[in-house]
Amino acid sequence: MKYNFDRRVDRRGTDTFKWDKLAARFGRDDIISMWIADMEFETPVPVRDALKKRCDHGIFGYTFRSDAYHDAVRKWVKARSNWEIKNEWICFCPGIVPALSLCVNTFTRPGDKVITQTPVYPPFYTVVKKNGRRVVENRLKYELNQYTIDFERLAEDIRLKSTPFTSSLANGAYQFDPAVKMMLFCNPHNPTGRVWQQSELERIGRICLENNILIVSDDIHCDLVYRKNQYIPIASLSRELQANTITCISPGKTFNLTGLATSAIIIPDEKLRQAYNNTLETLELDGGNIFGAIATTQAYTHGEDWLDQLLAYLENNLNFLLEYFDEKIPLIKPVKPEGTFLVWLDCTGLGLEGLELMDFFVNQAGLAVNPGDSFGKDSSRFVRMNMAFPKKVLETALNRLEAAVKSRLQLKQG
Ligand SMILES: Cc1ncc(COP(=O)(O)O)c(C=O)c1O
Repeated sequence: MKYNFDRRVDRRGTDTFKWDKLAARFGRDDIISMWIADMEFETPVPVRDALKKRCDHGIFGYTFRSDAYHDAVRKWVKARSNWEIKNEWICFCPGIVPALSLCVNTFTRPGDKVITQTPVYPPFYTVVKKNGRRVVENRLKYELNQYTIDFERLAEDIRLKSTPFTSSLANGAYQFDPAVKMMLFCNPHNPTGRVWQQSELERIGRICLENNILIVSDDIHCDLVYRKNQYIPIASLSRELQANTITCISPGKTFNLTGLATSAIIIPDEKLRQAYNNTLETLELDGGNIFGAIATTQAYTHGEDWLDQLLAYLENNLNFLLEYFDEKIPLIKPVKPEGTFLVWLDCTGLGLEGLELMDFFVNQAGLAVNPGDSFGKDSSRFVRMNMAFPKKVLETALNRLEAAVKSRLQLKQG
């Protein structure tokens, strides 16, 4: 491999959330930090070189995003996702979570409903609730260790509750709830790792178009997709969907740049774009930062080769992890992700849930993971584990987990 993803870098003492907030979050810091979704890999050299060069200039006054930045985003989207976009469609936000909140704020009103597929990344709830809107949870179907969209349930979830429900979406026997104004969609989906297929996207798109539901698609993990799967931006499927979708992307997860707080919000429809930019300007958030723009431009221009090798490395980690659980920790069943470097672990076999399950991971296994119930009501027997580590570290983590599970079994039997 041309790039060394095995290299360990000590991140402690760099004001990093993942490592320097361990004690505050988990009560101890002598554990392996596998919670927050950033990677333990250094960002590609061309990105770092460009940042250093700009840093050496020594003056960091007000800035704007250049044509080179917009060209880089547009070309990246075409190259990786085969979606032809225009420079002027690319709007700014300091992050994707702020963009979700901004969209909820701009395109819905207090009391409106926003639907999302759960379990889901926790801010999908908070950006809705904190803006005084209501979350409609469209629970994914979990069967045989895999997640799919439950379209029957989706029909029920967006039905006006005073009308009778028949199970066919097509027969028009009931009315949809006009209060449902937006869908917060996640593709690839965090935490299940699903990369939605074209047929699923088409069905979601059709339902949203038929019922005037604006789609805000958080595609932050879109570059991190494993072989045999393909990421498709829902907006790219038709002109109608293009006009009804706001697509949020960023180099943050892909190139480990989340701390640079720069994301690209693609809004093809002119009216929607104006409304979004209006809010961005009203909040005075449109400035952005010099380093974020440089890093995005460099990563999207020179990062393809690095990314392809990163994906190979991550897929190797993933296969190692899946085999490890299968052979040595069969009580825990990972949901095989099609994308993302996050693994959703079904720990039902351990007989623990909620705080007890977290206590087991943190204090018995020495691993900081995300609690399942922060992603949705029915997920207290799950945790989310980040596997974007040098393989040796991942191996140590799995060894620790195996030992903790064994000693728990011995205690139970003894
Ligand atoms: C689905 C999803 N959206 C958004 C974010 C965070 O985006 P940002 O840091 O750009 O606000 C994450 C981070 O884990 C995520 O998984």
